[in-house]
Amino acid sequence: MEQINIYSGKKAISRIVVAEGLQGLDACLKPYRHIYAVIDRNVAEKCPAVSRVMKMLEDRQARIRLVEASEESKTLETVMDICSWLLENNADRDALVLAVGGGIVTDMAGFASCIYKRGVRFAYMPTTLLSQVDASIGGKTGVNFHKYKNILGVIRQPEFTYLCPQVLESLPLRDFHSGVAEMLKTFVIEDGGNYQKAADLFFDISSEFTLEAHINGKDEGQVWKALMAKHKRTLAELIAAAARVKAGVVSRDQFERGERRKLNLGHTFAHAIETLAQQDGGERFNGHDGIQDVKGVTHGEAVAMGMVLAARLADRYYRSDRSETTELEAKISADFWDADVPCYCPYTPEEMAGIMKKDKKAEGGKVHFVLPKAIGDVETVDLTVEEVVALLK
Ligand SMILES: NC(=O)c1ccc[n+]([C@@H]2O[C@H](COP(=O)([O-])OP(=O)(O)OC[C@H]3O[C@@H](n4cnc5c(N)ncnc54)[C@H](O)[C@@H]3O)[C@@H](O)[C@H]2O)c1
Repeated sequence: MEQINIYSGKKAISRIVVAEGLQGLDACLKPYRHIYAVIDRNVAEKCPAVSRVMKMLEDRQARIRLVEASEESKTLETVMDICSWLLENNADRDALVLAVGGGIVTDMAGFASCIYKRGVRFAYMPTTLLSQVDASIGGKTGVNFHKYKNILGVIRQPEFTYLCPQVLESLPLRDFHSGVAEMLKTFVIEDGGNYQKAADLFFDISSEFTLEAHINGKDEGQVWKALMAKHKRTLAELIAAAARVKAGVVSRDQFERGERRKLNLGHTFAHAIETLAQQDGGERFNGHDGIQDVKGVTHGEAVAMGMVLAARLADRYYRSDRSETTELEAKISADFWDADVPCYCPYTPEEMAGIMKKDKKAEGGKVHFVLPKAIGDVETVDLTVEEVVALLK
């Protein structure tokens, strides 16, 4: 078990516990007498580890609320429902709200905790790889509003975040791949030797899964469960390493005035891709690996596509290299390809331009683009969307 802290100055304001098993969660919950758990209904039904957590919560007389997790339900209405439930159940200022689920549930339950009675304490047990390495760390909470993602929200740190790879045994493959993208993104920003280790692990997991499930015809769920058990130590080490990187950046720049912006690597493109995909739906030819169903594109897949575009943009910005595929772009896309993560963008820069201009990170007509120069070396550069479109043409 490892503990990583997030600091404000010298004061630890949030802790991240990384463990291979669930025992440590009970110890984390012990100091709190009034626990209100908000749990993704789907996870409660499908994840054996979360069933054990629910038993643990019942033993602690916690109140439990199951919620639906989808981008469509990530709204103020659902947050209001959570607040109404807290009110009906007499949650007071000494309450602890524990969110159990992926980024949708942690973002919504975190936001509800920030506004209910002007803020009650909250904690996270993230159940997707993406939320373990990204969404549950750093205190960004929020919901979608009109057609914009995460446009309403606040930054406030959870009491603790409990990271355990055991919950990943029931995670759908596509959602695991979404987390692969955010983890590789983290190590492109700060490597420490972890980027290649992660790329190798995801290559192994993907090829072992293909061999056992697709070639040998074994049950996919059983193969996945066995793979998660086999690789749980390496996964825990890499999850901890990614959490350390994010915790470090957030400790130095909690409110995203500077350094924290680099965590948005690929995200301006990703948000444009997700927004267009939602409006668009259907199938599209992406120019590389064939037809792609864009409607269901996941956040992580959009981030993978955004990272490949960011690598191309960086190369053209720094070296004016107009070649079709550059070295870093080729490396990143090959690693995503090997891990089975779709990473070729189905939209042209011109199609994305309108949405990128409305990016939350835009200031004075310019957007902060994070440009990867090499693995472990990124820089934030302010560019107009017109400049980006011209460079990517
Ligand atoms: N706050 C932040 O800093 C931050 C950072 C990145 C992403 N996000 C947000 O996170 C959201 C995406 O979150 P996500 O990718 O973690 O997933 P999610 O919450 O969208 O869940 C994905 C799917 O997996 C299911 N699921 C989750 N865990 C499972 C498990 N262990 N077993 C079986 N099924 C499981 C869910 O029910 C859901 O159907 C987006 O809304 C994004 O905006 C927030």
